[in-house]
Amino acid sequence: MSQATARAHSNIALIKYWGKRAGPRNLPAVGSISVTLDGLYTDTTVVFDEALAADTAELDKKPVDTARLTPFLDLVRARAGIDTRAAIVSANNFPTGAGLASSASGFAALSLAATRAAGLALSPRELSILARQGSGSAARSVFGGFAEMHRGELDDGSDAFAESMLDPGEWPLEIVVAITDRATKSVNSSIGMSHLDQRSDYYSAWVAHSETDLSAMRDAIAARDFETVGALTEMSCLKLHGLMMSTRPGLIYWNPATVAAMQAVRALREAGTPVYFTIDAGPQVKALCAPGHGEAVARALARVPGVLETRRTALGPAASVLA
Ligand code: PMV
Repeated sequence: MSQATARAHSNIALIKYWGKRAGPRNLPAVGSISVTLDGLYTDTTVVFDEALAADTAELDKKPVDTARLTPFLDLVRARAGIDTRAAIVSANNFPTGAGLASSASGFAALSLAATRAAGLALSPRELSILARQGSGSAARSVFGGFAEMHRGELDDGSDAFAESMLDPGEWPLEIVVAITDRATKSVNSSIGMSHLDQRSDYYSAWVAHSETDLSAMRDAIAARDFETVGALTEMSCLKLHGLMMSTRPGLIYWNPATVAAMQAVRALREAGTPVYFTIDAGPQVKALCAPGHGEAVARALARVPGVLETRRTALGPAASVLA
């Protein structure tokens, strides 16, 4: 029996990933750039145990289906040359599956815990390639601060990895998450983005413009230009949701409070607060705030009708082994 426990933090994309390249191994059609969040994380323990006949998994003390987890653990087993089944015990400190990037922190924590428990010591890049095969956004949660995920060109996925751009302390932006619905989202990201080339007329434009957006974001981050980072972030979010809405069947992740929170962010900005919004495959609004402005933004968003709760967080660290 061998075991390890790891913690990985969730992340929020500033330039969004949506859509896959053809072929196996969960290859992204576009690159992405994200920030890792201190306040939202997953702790995962993996125990490889010869006494187990099958893999088992629980999340937040409830059993979960291993259909997506066993093929992932098989990647680790193949690499380590073992055949032992595993017990996975995982806990999120935030609501699961509601557009708060639980698959990102979840698969990053699982990648690190499972490889360590199997006796492997992967480099962060190798770990991100593994995590990507569980969930595209998970590759970025291997790193703290600002991270970029590369689309890659190769069919084997060896160049589709994430890497660090800035450590959290190098530009301590703040994030306020406005939770507008605690229920699990109805269309998860893998289903939402499958066969997009046939389902949205806007998809080719999304892919064609992605490199321009990534390059502008890299420059703006390097220059610590908050207004440009924020403007690119809002634009990537709105483009993503335009693409989602144009998909057959149309995906609408927003509720009235989502829209009210977006408008509140813009009103704050017009009144002089440096803040921009972004939204993933769910109804929560994430406000990107210049250093020192998180508290005022959290107070304002808490007053928006339909906002159930706000969480304020700094940028977080890389995934790490706890035990
Ligand atoms: O990798 P997934 O399946 O968690 O999809 C991530 C999709 C978005 O959160 C909407 C965008 C992103 O880049 O994180």
